[in-house]
Amino acid sequence: MSTRTADIVFFLAFVSAFLCFSLQAAPGDGAGSLMLGCGSENEATDADGRKWLPDAKFISGSNSVQAEAQYQDPALGSEVPYMKARIFTSNATYKFPAKSKQRYFLRLHFYPSVYGSNNAEQAFFSVVANGITLLKNFSASITCKATTQAYIIREYSLAPLTQDDLEVTFSVDTGFAFVNGIELVAVPDGLFDKATLVGKPDESIDSKSSNLQTVYRLNVGGSFIPPTKDSASLGRAWYDDNAYIFGANVGIPDVADNTTKIEYENIPEYSAPVDVYTTARTMGPDKNININSNLTWVFNQVDTKYMYIVRLHFSDNANTKPNQVVFTIYINNQTAEPEADVIAWSGGMGKAVYKDYVTPLSEKSGGDLWLALHPNPDPMPEYYDSLLSGVEIFKIESSKSLAGPNPKPSDMLQKDEDEQKRSFETKKDTDKGSNKAHVIGGAAGGAAAAGVVAALCIAVYQRKKRVQGTESHSTSWLPIYGNSHTSGKSSSGKSHGSRHISSAAQGRCRRFSFAEMKQATKNFDEANVIGVGGFGKVYKGVIDNGATKVAIKKSNPQSEQGVNEFQTEIEMLSELRHKHLVSLIGFCEEDDEMCLVYDYMSRGTLREHIYKGNKTHLSWKQRLEICIGAAKGLHYLHTGARWTIIHRDVKTTNILLDENWEAKVSDFGLSKTGPDLNKGHVSTVVKGSFGYLDPEYFKRQQLTEKSDVYSFGVVLFEVLCARPALNPNLPKEQVSLADWALHCQKKGILEDIIDPHLKGKVNMESIKKFADTAEKCLSECGVDRPSLNDILWNLEFSLQLQEGTDGVSTRSGSRTRSDSDDASLRNQEMMAIHYSNLSLGSESDLGEVQPSSSSDNNEAAPDSDSAIFSQIVNPTGR
Ligand SMILES: *[C@@H]1O[C@H](CO)[C@@H](O)[C@H](O)[C@H]1NC(C)=O
Repeated sequence: MSTRTADIVFFLAFVSAFLCFSLQAAPGDGAGSLMLGCGSENEATDADGRKWLPDAKFISGSNSVQAEAQYQDPALGSEVPYMKARIFTSNATYKFPAKSKQRYFLRLHFYPSVYGSNNAEQAFFSVVANGITLLKNFSASITCKATTQAYIIREYSLAPLTQDDLEVTFSVDTGFAFVNGIELVAVPDGLFDKATLVGKPDESIDSKSSNLQTVYRLNVGGSFIPPTKDSASLGRAWYDDNAYIFGANVGIPDVADNTTKIEYENIPEYSAPVDVYTTARTMGPDKNININSNLTWVFNQVDTKYMYIVRLHFSDNANTKPNQVVFTIYINNQTAEPEADVIAWSGGMGKAVYKDYVTPLSEKSGGDLWLALHPNPDPMPEYYDSLLSGVEIFKIESSKSLAGPNPKPSDMLQKDEDEQKRSFETKKDTDKGSNKAHVIGGAAGGAAAAGVVAALCIAVYQRKKRVQGTESHSTSWLPIYGNSHTSGKSSSGKSHGSRHISSAAQGRCRRFSFAEMKQATKNFDEANVIGVGGFGKVYKGVIDNGATKVAIKKSNPQSEQGVNEFQTEIEMLSELRHKHLVSLIGFCEEDDEMCLVYDYMSRGTLREHIYKGNKTHLSWKQRLEICIGAAKGLHYLHTGARWTIIHRDVKTTNILLDENWEAKVSDFGLSKTGPDLNKGHVSTVVKGSFGYLDPEYFKRQQLTEKSDVYSFGVVLFEVLCARPALNPNLPKEQVSLADWALHCQKKGILEDIIDPHLKGKVNMESIKKFADTAEKCLSECGVDRPSLNDILWNLEFSLQLQEGTDGVSTRSGSRTRSDSDDASLRNQEMMAIHYSNLSLGSESDLGEVQPSSSSDNNEAAPDSDSAIFSQIVNPTGR
């Protein structure tokens, strides 16, 4: 983490806001639909182009005020409707025109912030719609904190109305009441009908006349579907299911091939969008594994003492006949459906169908709702498999109420919050008069936010362990997270073995005594400090009687984050050896002292050489070579190691340079092992540095290697424009480099913002190629971003173009590939032939000529992709 205050402020604000929900809301084209920006005087358009109307004319009573949030949480993405609020100081009622006998979705949007003198932390209120209590003594602030969201959207499905209007009353329990946005969407009649009782397959309840609250809505095996893409303009958001899948067998996401067209023969099209039925999760090809396992989802934080409708969406896009796949559906350990046969239900391949089940949730459940699918061998189906395309969970009104208690933050979060408060107090003292304190206060997070994150990792891990009763195999994380918790408290630390580090890792690197560390750094002399990282200071030092220069990272023993990151880094780095990764020489662990010992990178960070400090300006060619080196390091992390490793904190201060200007990627404290074969991504809490954060990761907490690609795109623009990723001193539209560079690129004026030191000395084609590559890295959706392999190709090509301009090929001695490769790569003509055969703009074209991925343990892509290189550069082959 950066030490710059601005960075920290943004970072904290951001951390406080992970797990945010999408901003998109109902388009509300249908009759009887309404979207209100509460507290807004004029019609306003949100980031998705939808219009929100002013709310004033619907309110009766004069006890409300319009207010504006003091702080815009970066997770908001769209100001509308969240930055404005309607504040109620006493009870007030909205009266909406509506049709009787019509079912409606009512969505309430809350952004707990500071509104003038009204701090949402003090607001506890109730909401009643046509006599149904939706919220009682509700605190949006507590709810957001416990669920670590910046804002919340509550969706209710109100039973067909008995009169021609809908009254929604806000009443104050403590402090005041507020709301930011209200949506009212007419729902087709047939959306709810009846649901089968779990455990009693012959009994069902009537859901036609039920008031419901949506608790979960997932596109299983698929990706997020925003409200704008919902069917029948109902404005529902469908999240992906990765965060809820549980157990040893997580199944595999399945996508129907292009020829399978989803048909709505059994159910209306408004039931769910096509995308829900196109994708599914199935168990995988191994019969023996499948018959011995369940495909399981756990939905937590579900209010107990209510009944729930569990709606399961299916479309079998692979089989054609009944009895090919038959499975049992369990909900909360009870049989909901003994023999589910999707084809038998739907009548054929690609035909959509859904089933509704109803189950109570007792207090014993601890608020967890379980769904499990298991192949049923009894009817002797052709395959042992099970599948699911989508799931929705609705809470059913009981005694005219849908309200639940405010969630309790976990102990860990609570502890961290106390810490935050403390550090906030300290911060205030040191920051008096500065408005930064304000910003920190406004953000729900705090100075210990990074600690919150670490704590959460452990909390989640523990939860999984508790419910399974044994070591969880479902986690794709490195075992260190678990170890740190189970073994961290035990031994004295004086023993020879490390408390925290696996013996394998210990075997791979040197162990130093604390005395040696003291000697190396002149007793940790402040004069030797070369950096301050997330978990402590970094010192310059010498070991082996002065023979080897090293960088020593000393952890702050008080920091839990420190311990975790320390371990992550040792476990990862000790196994990873690559020319473009900083190498770990060893570590020291004695009593409470922990140090990591690295190769010393004499030229410091990339940032220092592009705009920080008075160092000499790097030539364009040097910059390209450095970017290529860093890309190779990252490529290796993504594809070369045993696991996919996602760096998570790619930025110019984590790219270091040795005396030969060789780039090395550093700082794996935040790294996570990435998607395994079965999972598209790691669902996780958001970490990283503001200004470099993948907006998709940010919105949806899904980590893929494409998140690193996004950050790397920011690095590329930083190198090109010689300015920081975030510069709060600039005019608003220029603060974020990613936004500003994309804007300029689109306008065709990027040339105006490139580093003036480059002007006149560079090949503009090379710059263009480079900028195009960076632009693609910043694509909104991860899937549209290039892989690091593609990036490498493009950067290499950019370098070729520049070298063509420079005349003779004079690469610095620091090039990493072998001389023969180097020589052949210089053959610009051949590269040009290669590229003229490829559509550079198209990833898929590039993809066709690439081998699947590098598995070479020592080298990054192009080195190991020598097959392609030789194809390109070896004219004799033609
Ligand atoms: C599958 O789930 C059911 C219901 O929760 C449980 O009874 C059964 O033991 C599970 N089977 C396996 C193999 O985990």
